[in-house]
Amino acid sequence: MPIVTTKEMFKKAYEGGYAIGAFNVNNMEIIQGITEAAKEVNAPLILQVSAGARKYANHTYLMKLIEAAEIETGLPIAVHLDHGDSFELCKSCIDGGFTSVMIDGSHLPFEENIKLTKQVVDYAHEKGVVVEGELGRLAGIEDAVNVSEKDAAFTDPDQVEEFVAKTGVDSLAIAIGTSHGAYKFKGEAKLRFDILEEVQKRLPGFPIVLHGASSVIPEFVEMINKYGGDMPGAKGVPEDMLRKAASMAVCKINIDSDLRLAMTGTIRKYFAENPSHFDPRQYLGPARLAIKELVKKKIVNVLGCDGKA
Ligand code: G3H
Ligand code: 13P
Ligand code: ZN
Repeated sequence: MPIVTTKEMFKKAYEGGYAIGAFNVNNMEIIQGITEAAKEVNAPLILQVSAGARKYANHTYLMKLIEAAEIETGLPIAVHLDHGDSFELCKSCIDGGFTSVMIDGSHLPFEENIKLTKQVVDYAHEKGVVVEGELGRLAGIEDAVNVSEKDAAFTDPDQVEEFVAKTGVDSLAIAIGTSHGAYKFKGEAKLRFDILEEVQKRLPGFPIVLHGASSVIPEFVEMINKYGGDMPGAKGVPEDMLRKAASMAVCKINIDSDLRLAMTGTIRKYFAENPSHFDPRQYLGPARLAIKELVKKKIVNVLGCDGKA
């Protein structure tokens, strides 16, 4: 099975009422943990690379590691640029073998977002690559994405048909109350399913993407806090909400923070228990295993794409 686009995956996911996990990758252990999990439960996968990940690990290293995972597992894997912020970045990823790119023009005025997104779509489609656009703004902080709560905005369902028609995008990320990072809700978790429903009505059959969808799994936050960390008030999207979104038009669910928490919590615990160890394999091995177990649970309990590869 070669590296694939998300076209077929999304069609089946929409019809089947489940979602594909889009996991952020930065190094070999993360790629191995995720792909070994997907292999065990026979799930299709999207591995996504941010601009920061590309800078950290280098495009070719990541691409070759993903190709190795594809050979080892035989799974359908899509390689996706997460939060592309320019035509040049998207072009470079397309030319370098990615099968899917996101152009994130969500911070731009509507018409400018359309113009930039369409420029990427025209180039990508010529090369057989699919494109994710974004309308609405999520709050939260990542390397390349930093949106304060006051600048965040829900997606306006009145804009989605025009955006999709004029740009030709293959999928659309929308803002319904999730946010990037480990602090998603101050009080009770709330998502605007009414907006998702409206979007789905206006774009029947069209795949929707949910960013900022980590559940910020308490087990790992507690582990971090127990072993010298300090993350009071960390809170994510409850799993039942993700399951509901997956049963609707959401076909791609983005997860990064949960992987980071699992890896960091496990490594903190390891060093607390083995303070004199210094072989990286001794602490990266358990971190990779923690990612594998976490991804398996996500696929089976939340995304519902087990057995769908
Ligand atoms: O939404 C962004 C992803 O979590 C990637 O984060 O830019 O820190 O690699 P990053
Ligand atoms: P989390 O921070 O919730 O994992 O979101 C990741 C994401 O949206 C990547 O694009
Ligand atoms: Zn995102």
